Amino acid sequence: EPDDNPPVRRVSDWDADRLTDLADGHETPLYVQDLDRVRENCERLLAALPDADVRYAVKAHTGRAVLEAIRDAGLDAECASAGEVDRALAAGFDGSRLHYTAVNPPARDLDYVVGVAEAEPDLTVTVGAVDTLDRLTERGYDGRVCVRVNPGVGAGHHEKVTTGGAAKFGIPYDRAASAARDAAERVDVVGIHAHAGSGIDPDQLDSHRELVARMGELARELAAPSDGASEDDAPAPVDLEYVDVGGGFGVPYEEDAPALDLPAVADATREAVAPLPDGVDLAIEPGRYVVADAGVLLTRVNTVKPTPDETVVGVDAGMTDLLRPAMYDAYHPIRNLGGGRGADGSDAPAPGDRSATPVTVAGPICETGDTLGRNRALADPNRGDLLAVGVAGAYGYEMASQYNSRPRPAEVALDDGTATVVRRRESLSDLTTVERDAGRRGEERP
Ligand code: LLP
Repeated sequence: EPDDNPPVRRVSDWDADRLTDLADGHETPLYVQDLDRVRENCERLLAALPDADVRYAVKAHTGRAVLEAIRDAGLDAECASAGEVDRALAAGFDGSRLHYTAVNPPARDLDYVVGVAEAEPDLTVTVGAVDTLDRLTERGYDGRVCVRVNPGVGAGHHEKVTTGGAAKFGIPYDRAASAARDAAERVDVVGIHAHAGSGIDPDQLDSHRELVARMGELARELAAPSDGASEDDAPAPVDLEYVDVGGGFGVPYEEDAPALDLPAVADATREAVAPLPDGVDLAIEPGRYVVADAGVLLTRVNTVKPTPDETVVGVDAGMTDLLRPAMYDAYHPIRNLGGGRGADGSDAPAPGDRSATPVTVAGPICETGDTLGRNRALADPNRGDLLAVGVAGAYGYEMASQYNSRPRPAEVALDDGTATVVRRRESLSDLTTVERDAGRRGEERP
């Protein structure tokens, strides 16, 4: 019997005809995000960790329709900037479901969030430096604070996204208890937080477990301080509501890579953090896991160039649409949905010309690193073919840019099968909006 909520949706699982229709109707490059799959991913997380607070890391996909689906599914929102808080509010998350993680926060972001907290006092701000706490209290903030800890242990799919251990994030572990106690004298300290990194794969679970164990230990230390020579000079306990062990749950990008065994990870997490003091909950904040396999990027082949060593397949999406391959050497599966010149057989070169050499799928940007995939065995690529780049729902559109003066792509959301354009394709005119507006918007300073 087929599992109606399998742990991963592969690029091969998408309905090719549907994707072709969408590309024909909306042009390419086109992101397609399936809200039903987003909901399934939420359900799987909630089922694996029914006793935990699950917070969606908004940065992975900030689209309004996605945020609303996640809000309805019952997850909270973890926001990394004023802009993300603004989006989460607009999508209907109320303060009690908003967690703002301040990483070297710009003054403008702090001003904004402190303002939001006046209307939404249940919002929580996570601080990764005592200095950040000072900057909050200077602005009159005396609300809910979570202390971000640098657990000294990290994990992730690439060093650029391995957070734990990186000095930028969190208060060093051995100073965290005293920092949290000091903070508790000034604000309402409700939680402690750590994040190992992004894209934790099955073989990195030991690091995850170690981080979680350290956080459990810190929670116990804060609840029942062990230092101080006598009962009298032992520090006051800090009443935490939660221990947030971060996000980072990996998804398989290679077609045959195993999926994370979420129930097993959940068990390992609960076990490693235990025993939590009474009244303290476990919290997690996955981003990628919620949205990655719910998205594909559709792109059209515009040039096929055989060379002695490889065939370069030029497509209309590049690093400006999907940065991950260029930035992290990340692998995304690419499936040829066909439909190009080979389809009618007219002037297609013989497949044998190309199938012998590996394929590089390259974008239209003037950078050598502008590839979506290298060394691929892509079945018979022809001009006009439609390619589906899989597992593109997380950190895809979000990291898109207008470099090379390229308008950002459109995005379609599928909701119970119905397609809606949720992000229109940018036009050439959009590229110069901020320049044309500059004088009028008061951005000029004498
Ligand atoms: N919590 C915090 C504090 C984070 O910094 C992040 C991600 C998450 C949660 C969610 O991590 P996730 O579950 O999505 O792995 N652009 C990179 C990923 C950067 C992640 C940054 N922080 C990529 O495309 O791989």
